[in-house]
Amino acid sequence: MRKKIVAGNWKMNNDLAQTQTLISDLKKSLPATDAEVKIAPTYTNLYPAYEALKDSAIEVVAQNMHQEENGAYTGEISASMLKSVGIKTVILGHSERRAYFGEDDALLAKKVDTAIKHEMDIIFCFGEELEDRKSDNHFKLVESQLKNALFHLEAAAWKRIVLAYEPVWAIGTGETASPEQAQEMHEFIRKTLADKYSQDLADSISILYGGSVKPANAEEIFSKPDVDGGLIGGAALKAEDFIGIVKAI
Ligand code: G3P
Repeated sequence: MRKKIVAGNWKMNNDLAQTQTLISDLKKSLPATDAEVKIAPTYTNLYPAYEALKDSAIEVVAQNMHQEENGAYTGEISASMLKSVGIKTVILGHSERRAYFGEDDALLAKKVDTAIKHEMDIIFCFGEELEDRKSDNHFKLVESQLKNALFHLEAAAWKRIVLAYEPVWAIGTGETASPEQAQEMHEFIRKTLADKYSQDLADSISILYGGSVKPANAEEIFSKPDVDGGLIGGAALKAEDFIGIVKAI
């Protein structure tokens, strides 16, 4: 049975006090659920968040990490540093990392390898730009992102991978992909995995949807057979909204 997951990507939001307030509100209102619930604060808030949530049902994950073990990489954070503060899952490949920080498939393949070497789980993000979809190139683009960054992995490594399909045109825009569009791409992703590895492996991988998920649209998106949850941005910053999305899974 695939894991159901709702993860909140806080991006560059919330100082320490705001983090503590939001976590307190989430702890108070988190419903009983068999879904995995995760939040991704910024680096400076990871340890306080881990300490506040280590006995709760909410996992704290990192938004990124460097591909090298250590060294002269000013401003960067390594896998072992994340592990040392209790973090065992990392988001990689987010479109904002690709767009603003030049992270391409080859670099992401290295980050994936480093995370797996450190026995970290990965939420791997990918998705097309609007022009890809308008030119009917979105399936080919998504397939290349998966192949270039992940298809070097042995089948066994995939137990550490959660996929997050995030059409760039839906991120932060309020322009959510329709449930049918999400299901169509998730089904394609699962078939691509089955063709490369096996149907059993493909059926075991959780594929999350991200891109303007809100309490009002979450239930219909999550009801689709190949959608296993969501990676939430803006709505994760308000406890009431994030909890509303958790209740929808
Ligand atoms: O990683 C999740 C994020 O990119 C989605 O953002 O604000 O459209 O929910 P948002």
